[in-house]
Amino acid sequence: MKQFLNLDDLSNFEQTIIEGIKLKKNPNKFELLGNQKTLGMLFFNPSLRTRLSTQKAAQNLGLKTMVMNFSNESWALEFEDGTQMNGSKSEHIKEAAAVVSQYFDIVAIRAFASLTNKIKDEQEIVLSSFIKYASIPVINMESATAHPLQALADAMTIKENYPLNKPKIVLSWAPHPKALPHAVGNSFIRMVKKLDANFVITHPKGYELDSRITGDTLIEYNQENAFKNADFVYTKNWCSYNKYGEILKTDRDWMITESKMKFTNSAKFMHCLPIRRNVVATDKVLNSPNSLIIQQANNRTYAAQIVLKKILENG
Ligand code: CP
Repeated sequence: MKQFLNLDDLSNFEQTIIEGIKLKKNPNKFELLGNQKTLGMLFFNPSLRTRLSTQKAAQNLGLKTMVMNFSNESWALEFEDGTQMNGSKSEHIKEAAAVVSQYFDIVAIRAFASLTNKIKDEQEIVLSSFIKYASIPVINMESATAHPLQALADAMTIKENYPLNKPKIVLSWAPHPKALPHAVGNSFIRMVKKLDANFVITHPKGYELDSRITGDTLIEYNQENAFKNADFVYTKNWCSYNKYGEILKTDRDWMITESKMKFTNSAKFMHCLPIRRNVVATDKVLNSPNSLIIQQANNRTYAAQIVLKKILENG
């Protein structure tokens, strides 16, 4: 594999899930694969899980890692071509991407959506500029529209908890005080479509995601109806896509509660984290034995490791 920008870069998704779960049982098996090589990790936004799990994954493969917070440690980057750089931006992406390619063998980028300019967000200016000007493989550690490492870890978690086919999986919107991006929801949808599952998305009216991604997936506006007989409830907030970046509803009606989970088939609860307790889901849901949130976070390491392994094997 040459790069990992979205799930379609994995040539055999089902097989990759199985390989990731196998790697988890023996994480140091390929500890020499990354010998003498360096993974650079560039963050334009904060992280706990992605930063630490990807570093751990790299170390398991013998890779060295270098991490930089571009938001406050590096020069402000210019992404437009042909501009006269007499403002606050000191370095052009053309040089920055070429320079980091001298220091690293693989570069991983985190750059969230602005949520103020849909066209620019969908162009993935930061990620696509690194792809254009870097001469090394690029990994998406969550971009404006996608979080494929999270989705791969979630697929592994679903497989570990439901080895049979056709689970009922519900993606449920939940309230949040801040406008959040669509990346996790988008990649989760793309991932579930690759599984053999009954899939329902539930959210209040106005929170429809990009129809090019949801496609023909059933949208149920009644959350309790959606939860009936569910085997997995995956919860995530996102802001409005059509009224781009807006928060249309913040009330507690859509919070995940123990009583709502009773409509399900003893469903497992999933969330990518970080999660605001008693806003997105109650303490009881998060503390329940059916909550998979820590297992999901653990699987982030092996999702990143299988991706890095495939890139290293490509030479
Ligand atoms: N789920 C996830 O990507 O977590 P971080 O934002 O902490 O990396």
